[in-house]
Amino acid sequence: EMHIFSSASEMRNWSRQQKQKGKRIALVPTMGYLHEGHLSLVEAAKELADIVVSSIYVNPTQFAAHEDFGQYPRQPEVDRAKLKAMGCSAVFEPTSLYVKVQGAESEDVNVVGKESMHPESHETFVQVERLQKPLCGGSRPHFFRGVATVVTKLFHIVEPDVAVFGRKDYQQWRIIERMVRDLDFGVEVVGMPICREQDGLAMSSRNARLTAEARQHAPAIYKALRWAMQAVESGAEKNPGTIQDQVRGMIEQAGGKMDYAELVDAKSLQPILDASLQTTLLAVAALFPSKDSQGTVRLIDNIVINEE
Ligand code: PAJ
Repeated sequence: EMHIFSSASEMRNWSRQQKQKGKRIALVPTMGYLHEGHLSLVEAAKELADIVVSSIYVNPTQFAAHEDFGQYPRQPEVDRAKLKAMGCSAVFEPTSLYVKVQGAESEDVNVVGKESMHPESHETFVQVERLQKPLCGGSRPHFFRGVATVVTKLFHIVEPDVAVFGRKDYQQWRIIERMVRDLDFGVEVVGMPICREQDGLAMSSRNARLTAEARQHAPAIYKALRWAMQAVESGAEKNPGTIQDQVRGMIEQAGGKMDYAELVDAKSLQPILDASLQTTLLAVAALFPSKDSQGTVRLIDNIVINEE
């Protein structure tokens, strides 16, 4: 049996009961439309704890007004079946008055329930000052404060012993890790490797929104990342600017519109001068054509070079 909770207090009560029984709890936070990447986190979570709780919540505060909150794919019934099959013990699916205010069109959206995750009066945010600025923070300035805040709420509601994140969202993982350290959350944060499609494209709920042609060309992102890793690790190239230009060129060739391609220090996420001198993160974000009216799909991916 898998429990489904939409109320924060019911979720917390259940978690506390489990802990009283001596159970160790792992949390896997998601925005739903689950794929193998998400499920690999659940699989890892099972190894790390006695009980796995997953959350499904398309968090409005991490989308800017012009972004794809309304277009974000949703399929709660299918997601629940997948989580149940994976052996999840509980799913937290909070409701949000904010969603209602935004004018949800689909009945799939969580609009009913007695509690809300982000009532209109919400005014408290968690910010990880330095790590939230580069990479995705440049084009999505409010994104990480939305993420850090909702993850804080999820930690306070579920009270997990361990929480599992994917390194597909590398900066997000580093930010949560830092937040937990800086604010003394008693939660262990684990980052798991990126799951890819056969052709190398990083799995993402957003891939479903790509045109057939864009879907065919998008694996160029991973090819560019692999090329860069090879170039640095073989000693052929170490200049960040040169590598970034090459990577941009390869992705643009495939029809992607670049947001950023950057080589940074893998821990601090700060710019580097020489890619051969430390463990380096190459992170990219690119826009590809979407089949729905919204126009583009923003894809992110990354590779770690000189990994220890
Ligand atoms: P979402 O994009 O649904 O991702 C949920 C978790 O799955 C994240 O930890 C993400 O890094 C991981 N994930 C996604 N694609 C993956 C892949 N191909 N391989 C491995 N892991 C992958 O990230 C979010 O939701 C939200 O920001 C959230 C943390 C839930 C806060 O709202």
